[in-house]
Amino acid sequence: MSPFQITRTLPEDATEAALRSDVLRGLTTDPKTLPPKWFYDAHGSELFERITELPEYYPTRAEREILVDRAPEIAAASGARTLVELGSGSSDKTRHLLDALTDLRVYVPVDVSESALTLAGQALVAERPALEVHALIADFTASLALPETPGPRLVAFLGGTIGNLLPAERGAFLASVRALLRPGDALLLGTDLVKDEEVLVRAYDDAAGVTAAFNKNVLAVVNRELGADFDPGAFDHVALWDPRAEWIEMRLRARRTQTVKVPALDLAVDFAAGEELRTEISAKFREEGVRTELATAGLALTHWWTDRADRFALSLSTVR
Ligand SMILES: C[S@@+](CC[C@H](N)C(=O)[O-])C[C@H]1O[C@@H](n2cnc3c(N)ncnc32)[C@H](O)[C@@H]1O
Repeated sequence: MSPFQITRTLPEDATEAALRSDVLRGLTTDPKTLPPKWFYDAHGSELFERITELPEYYPTRAEREILVDRAPEIAAASGARTLVELGSGSSDKTRHLLDALTDLRVYVPVDVSESALTLAGQALVAERPALEVHALIADFTASLALPETPGPRLVAFLGGTIGNLLPAERGAFLASVRALLRPGDALLLGTDLVKDEEVLVRAYDDAAGVTAAFNKNVLAVVNRELGADFDPGAFDHVALWDPRAEWIEMRLRARRTQTVKVPALDLAVDFAAGEELRTEISAKFREEGVRTELATAGLALTHWWTDRADRFALSLSTVR
């Protein structure tokens, strides 16, 4: 078998159908919303990589610090021969795990972004000829069928991406991850932690405007894929902290009254001046909450590691 293969788990028209249904639902409800997975076309994936290098965006550096310090412990606890990574993106931080997992045979990166999977997969097999990389273009919120690979399996979900799911979606997601695990398998979960509001807001509203461009990229995706006529310049990027829900919300605020046409859906959408479209939540966590959510899904938290400034946590959990 070739060391790199990429599999689309859903036909391309299913992706288009999912976009159409998300846009129709999201732009006809009040308040308007779009799910964050549609940020990540090739340009959106590139913008996300630039975000991870911004001085204000601490999560990537904090999680990398934990991985550098703890990868040997993670490897010893899991003994994984297969590493599955959900929302793998560039797989950059993953290299610390790949180095430490000495028995690893197969890496299964899973992402909606075909461009990110291709770039990452090709680089990894060039660097590590003994590693089999079986990439899956798939939506991790839909039911996942993993390839048959040797156990034990470690499923990694890094970057704090779990925070992009609403609480009810998180419950369903963790239950679906639990269903993928067999005795001896483990979940490695990255969660960003509740902290000072100013630090949080700056991480999602950087001085260079990269996060603003990332946020507006979803409008470019809807324009290209569904023929819409969103003017990204007619919207402002907004990031705010909701202290009750303990999440950051990214929104796009209409600068003026406007009507956006979406021909593929035969839809005209009115925006009032100042009206906001929610494009992402990014929930922040506390240890007890993570432990409880994992337990509800049938997973027992066995390890909790944070970076030295207590900004971000990685947890390891196993089947109960
Ligand atoms: C916040 S980025 C994190 C990337 C990387 N794991 C990291 O830690 O830097 C989220 C990643 O998840 C992917 N993604 C978002 N929603 C997804 C979904 N529903 N199914 C699969 N991948 C998704 C995006 O394409 C992106 O690569």
